[in-house]
Amino acid sequence: MKIKRIGILTGGGDCPGLNAAIRAVAKTAIFRHQSRGSCGMEVIGIEDGYEGLIKNKTRRLETKDVSGILTLGGTILGTSNRANPFAYGEEKKDVSKEVFRNFRNLKLDALVCMGGDGTLHIAHELIQLGMPIVGIPKTIDNDVGATDFTLGFDSAVAVATEAIDNIHSTAESHHRVMIIELMGRYTGWVALHAGVAGGGDIILIPEIPYKIEKICEEVKRRSKIGKRFSIMVMAEGVKFKDKKLVVKRKVKASTDPIRLGGVSYKIASQIEKLTGVETRVIILGHLQRGGKPTDFDRILATQFGKKAVDLVLAEKFGEMVSLQCGEITSVPIESAIRNLKKVNLDSPLIEAARGVGTCFGD
Ligand code: F6P
Repeated sequence: MKIKRIGILTGGGDCPGLNAAIRAVAKTAIFRHQSRGSCGMEVIGIEDGYEGLIKNKTRRLETKDVSGILTLGGTILGTSNRANPFAYGEEKKDVSKEVFRNFRNLKLDALVCMGGDGTLHIAHELIQLGMPIVGIPKTIDNDVGATDFTLGFDSAVAVATEAIDNIHSTAESHHRVMIIELMGRYTGWVALHAGVAGGGDIILIPEIPYKIEKICEEVKRRSKIGKRFSIMVMAEGVKFKDKKLVVKRKVKASTDPIRLGGVSYKIASQIEKLTGVETRVIILGHLQRGGKPTDFDRILATQFGKKAVDLVLAEKFGEMVSLQCGEITSVPIESAIRNLKKVNLDSPLIEAARGVGTCFGD
């Protein structure tokens, strides 16, 4: 089959690097074959994730539309984490037939879906029903399997690291414990990487159950050796008293309705009570998904985008582009979404952090 027309869709939470990937897919598809006299592919942007396929909101993307967006955060196509074609809206209606009808009417030969766990799960279901899809893993959480890194993770870590850097001076001046709560859902990738990069004294991640006594011991130990402040970096997915996730809100129509946030306030008041050291909280929130992509994410996006077009041309549908040991490769989407990718407790990064005295609360 000659591939003439492809669609691009960005689903789930946005992140820096998405526009760089849209640019890479669109430019590679348009420029491919053009030099030999024939036309390149036509590219259709689907707006607001799967919502655009459900409601038929699309626009043609030409070179001029994707020019100048390499460094731009967010996604020019818009996104949504509420538009699941198999359970749409609060009534959870199956609108997958409409999605297939719109896909056919658009005369698309393939679709490139950029997304995290939720978007790729939906992509997988659509593939089972015959839709020709190729995936690009993106999420600041880095929790998609079968790839070393997802697009957007490095940029989120950069924002978080800068915040930790900036907190140091005020923590030290006021002799406080400063807790920086970071995103990441049920995994601790962002907190671990930013925590190590920012020199966090204590790092809490969901993968390592903590004991409040250990945290307090560390705060007191530091005070005794003249370090009258402590920086604690923690993931939003850390459980309170090792049992319960702290839920900020529920978004009913979302593939995963749970929105985490606020566990740091509970832990802060325990620390204050048990140590007597004033403890303050900063929840960085959506700032981590903002701003320009880092150079790493721009390069990753460009390589992922080019590889996605290669997969489309080779008709390797059901595959997701992936970074493995520095190589850009591909894996079945199914293998990437089978399990959430958690931080490996034997990882050299945890070992190195422990080596420099970082306390994980265990
Ligand atoms: O999955 C990305 C992410 O930013 C998570 O880290 C966070 O828990 C969640 O999305 C927040 O979602 P929303 O934008 O719906 O608040």
